[in-house]
Amino acid sequence: MRASRLIALVLALAAAAGPAAAAPGGGSGKALYGQYCIACHGPNGSGVPQGRLSGGAALRQQQVQRALAPSLQGVGALAADFYLRTGYMPLQRVGIQPRRSRVLFSEPQLQALIGYVASLGKGPAIPKPQPQRGDISQGMSLFTEHCAGCHQVVAEGGVVTGALPPALEDATSTQIAEAVRIGPYVMPTFTKKSISDSQLNSIIRYVQYAKHPDDRGGWALGHIGPVPEGLVTWFLAAVALVGMCMVIGKRLSS
Ligand code: HEC
Ligand code: HEC
Repeated sequence: MRASRLIALVLALAAAAGPAAAAPGGGSGKALYGQYCIACHGPNGSGVPQGRLSGGAALRQQQVQRALAPSLQGVGALAADFYLRTGYMPLQRVGIQPRRSRVLFSEPQLQALIGYVASLGKGPAIPKPQPQRGDISQGMSLFTEHCAGCHQVVAEGGVVTGALPPALEDATSTQIAEAVRIGPYVMPTFTKKSISDSQLNSIIRYVQYAKHPDDRGGWALGHIGPVPEGLVTWFLAAVALVGMCMVIGKRLSS
């Protein structure tokens, strides 16, 4: 009885906190879109009309990519789900790299917006990866081959010119599957031809594993590998040696 009352209280508190944290505004996807997205992505997700831009095709492409927002027609629920649930969107201003940040919308608002973006054109659905079917060692070699150049071997983020590949520790299995198919920002898009769905399962399983690798003996030291661990050993040994010398020195002098 008491436990269930406590649960009810917690739920009531959560419900009270929920709408306050989420964006104000109606529940309709179209209305939310009009309020938060239309300024950059245009009416009906049309992007910015090509005619308004000058310059060659390559420059136009670059401007669409860099300075304005892309068309959302045909990006599907997949891209909307990824960009909204990571908090990448709404972007604060054009020209900056989307980063993982606080999600602005409540769950019903997310679903409404994702549904609205999906309705703008025929596009891919939200993937349902099955990492439990994947193989960690296959995942590791695929990750090393396709991803580690940017995201580092233990998936702790890295640096490429013009962008910061994020650490993958906050990415859910679905978000990893989505990112691989979208190729957000400067990340390349991987088709099913280059990475099949079953290979993707292995990659996801490896990334999830790399978040919490079992540490077999020794100290983890943030999983930065054997060299620093060796250095620490030397450091400890040096302190012990100095200590020993001092003790011996004292004995000799007394
Ligand atoms: C050319 C460099 C590059 C390669 C190769 C690359 N990525 Fe990325 N990745 C990025 C960048 C940059 C971002 C950030 C995108 C943004 O800010 O919009 C990113 C974002 C992500 C995210 C979203 C993470 C988050 O929490 O924001 C995931 C998941 C991801 N990548 C997985 C992968 C996987 C898996 C592979 C290999 C199949 C891969 N990436 C290959 C550069 C790369
Ligand atoms: C300040 C301008 C701006 C605002 C506001 C904005 N976006 Fe974006 N959006 C961008 C830019 C720029 C990109 C391209 C980012 C990239 O290259 O990763 C983008 C990319 C996207 C993508 C990925 C498209 C693709 O080709 O895969 C989706 C989906 C998206 N935005 C949805 C939204 C939604 C939904 C909202 C409103 C909640 C929103 N955006 C608000 C500028 C904006």
